Amino acid sequence: MNKSFTERFAQYTLPQEVKAMGIYPYYRPIESGQDPVVRMNGRDVLMFGSNSYLGLSDDPRLKEAAIEAIRKYGTSCSGSRFLNGTLDIHLALEEKLARLVGKEEAVTFSTGFQVNLGVVSLGSRDGYIFLDSYDHACIIDGSRLSHSRVLKFSHNDLRALENKLKIAEIDAPKLIVVDGVYSMSGDLAPLPQILDLAEEYNAAVMIDDAHGLGVFGHQGRGTADHFGVTDRVDLIMGTFSKSFGSLGGFVAGDATLLNYIKHNSRSLIFSASMPPANVAAVSKAIDIMLSEPERIEHLWDLTRFAREQFVRRGFDFGTTQSPIFPLYVRDMVKCLTAVRDALDAGVFITPVIPPAVPEDSVIIRFALMATHTFEQVEEAIDKLEKIFRRLEIIC
Ligand SMILES: Cc1ncc(COP(=O)(O)O)c(C=O)c1O
Repeated sequence: MNKSFTERFAQYTLPQEVKAMGIYPYYRPIESGQDPVVRMNGRDVLMFGSNSYLGLSDDPRLKEAAIEAIRKYGTSCSGSRFLNGTLDIHLALEEKLARLVGKEEAVTFSTGFQVNLGVVSLGSRDGYIFLDSYDHACIIDGSRLSHSRVLKFSHNDLRALENKLKIAEIDAPKLIVVDGVYSMSGDLAPLPQILDLAEEYNAAVMIDDAHGLGVFGHQGRGTADHFGVTDRVDLIMGTFSKSFGSLGGFVAGDATLLNYIKHNSRSLIFSASMPPANVAAVSKAIDIMLSEPERIEHLWDLTRFAREQFVRRGFDFGTTQSPIFPLYVRDMVKCLTAVRDALDAGVFITPVIPPAVPEDSVIIRFALMATHTFEQVEEAIDKLEKIFRRLEIIC
């Protein structure tokens, strides 16, 4: 084997150095379901690092639905949707998803990552793709696989987007891809204004609503519904690994777009379909979301409560508008130390450090679930306040 390939790997020792400092924050094993309280190393820990916004991933009804699907269909589809891996429950779920987000059709992929990879990469050689600088990694990777020119604009900066749109010829194919809710900063894309620009400059718009579905819009229908702009958005994608307590993803749009995607998207055609258990769990999660609006109401009550608590105690949490709180630390070692100390104190939170963000944007991500109680939120924030003060992150 060519040594130069593996030498670079062997020289990469940053994780070992961080481990030696006792503040390595990754791959921490959890011994239970993703509930407000999880078991770690034999003890109870408050979970504030999850994406299970509706608290459904350990819900008995989802588990039962998944078990039933395994009994009927087995554990795998043994192939892609395109050839042998389409089940009747895939089709039923796709109809449900299309109705949910207000689009004509939808198609499911095995992960949300694969949706963006497989759809954004369909950009054409003479086209342009416009990306917000905070867009998720899989959108960026999808754009890299396309043959289009990729132009990035600064986060939520409409003037910067317009300046980039002006670069492209008016009749060139153009796609703007933004997150509905940004996974780390918790703020929303200004969709109505982005759509105004898209219409003026003849661009299509795709939203990644991984963190908006189940949280925003009527009955959790997502960010486009929240802004009342569903008809103006060309493609809406979402994942099942956040609010819907499962794994997989989908994209929805009109029948013409879906026809092309279903016959050309490589991460759909050349990858095995969502396993039956995952399909059944998502379908049940959507039913529960629609029939139990109190879950989303409680999530928002908790969000308002946490916001008041963080303000009162002097935390800096940027411009979030969602149940995701980016607690600014702006120092990598302090951030990792706080994450370790929080776990020692019984609170699981997650760090966001370089290269994911620049050093001055280092944050701890604190995310709520509809199954948390006010007492759990207050207890966690109490503990974080003590740690943040000791490390002089807040004063
Ligand atoms: C905004 C966004 N898009 C896409 C994905 C990928 O989703 P999945 O976990 O289903 O692959 C994620 C997950 O981290 C995400 O946060």
